Amino acid sequence: MIVLGIETSCDETACAIVDDARGIRANVVLSQLDEHRPYGGVVPEVAARAHLHYLDGLIRQALDEAHLDLGQVDAIAATGGPGLIGGVIVGVMTAKAMAAARGLPFVAVNHLEGHALTARLTDDVPFPYLLLLVSGGHCQLLEVEGVGRYRRLGTTIDDAVGEAFDKTAKLLGLGYPGGPLLEKAAQKATNPGRFDLPAPMKGRPDCDFSFSGLKTAVRRHVEQLGTPTEADVADLAAAFHHAVGQSLLDRCDRAIKAFKGRHPADEQGGGRHLVVAGGVAANKYLREQLAKLAAKRGLTFTAPPLALCTDNAAMIAWAGLERFRLGQTDGLDFAPRPRWPLDPTAKPMKFAGVKA
Ligand code: KG4
Ligand code: ZN
Repeated sequence: MIVLGIETSCDETACAIVDDARGIRANVVLSQLDEHRPYGGVVPEVAARAHLHYLDGLIRQALDEAHLDLGQVDAIAATGGPGLIGGVIVGVMTAKAMAAARGLPFVAVNHLEGHALTARLTDDVPFPYLLLLVSGGHCQLLEVEGVGRYRRLGTTIDDAVGEAFDKTAKLLGLGYPGGPLLEKAAQKATNPGRFDLPAPMKGRPDCDFSFSGLKTAVRRHVEQLGTPTEADVADLAAAFHHAVGQSLLDRCDRAIKAFKGRHPADEQGGGRHLVVAGGVAANKYLREQLAKLAAKRGLTFTAPPLALCTDNAAMIAWAGLERFRLGQTDGLDFAPRPRWPLDPTAKPMKFAGVKA
């Protein structure tokens, strides 16, 4: 079984082809960093136009790299949301057109499910597992019980964690994209314990997150410093990592307890994994911290390779394949969705500026 996947929900135009033996036949990602850099962030209209411009060529490139003809593909999957709606429309319409022209099934994939199921593509992780989903738009803890079956244990009440990285990097004058630049800066810290930043939500009796206060705390330090030197920036970046790490670990630890209570380890390997996914999962410091926590709690820690943490189409093709083999396809009347929670029963966060 071979599935072609398309990802266009944010600022990466991507096309990939995967098979049911967990093989990635092609995985092409075109980042639009240069288009958005002058604005210091993603401009939705610019993104949509760039997707439209590049997507056809990328699909051709993916097929060529996989040495496949469209006739050998069994289904077409595309991110159907959540995301910047102009971009999502470009990907969905392209996928539908290909599916209609070739008489192929079409699968609309929830972008978050793409991140959530990546650990099954890379490491064959069995259900159920505990997932920490940390990206530019989301910060959630979820029990992944099956394809399309998620129980949200916690979410952010304000900013997503990637958003906090991006905004803090901007505050520190590091530019865009913030996450990787902030990580690089922190690695140069000579006095990482110099600034004491609060670990948000630590000790709270739930599994929710909050990051807007942390960003404000960094701003105060920056204001006090006047013009931070490179050394100040490095130390602040390290303090930020430490605070985010402390917060994530505390929240995850609570979630692990709840998860273990509901899903004791089973013979098929279920109930044994802590998985991290999403762009922020590319952060080495956070990966190390989470790996230690998992080991302490007797869970196997799984984090996708860096290129499959940030947005890509292999995860969309794979989630499409998982749905397709369960007979879950979509009609050509599928409407792209700006918001699309993984757990529709979880109550939306009133003040969160996110799609949670
Ligand atoms: O999953 P993703 O590629 O796109 C969304 O679905 O949002 O996540 C992008 C986010 C951005 O906020 C980016 O700054 C962050 O992931 N990110 C990182 C790193 N690489 C990307 N954050 C921290 N450390 C990194 N190395
Ligand atoms: Zn993403």
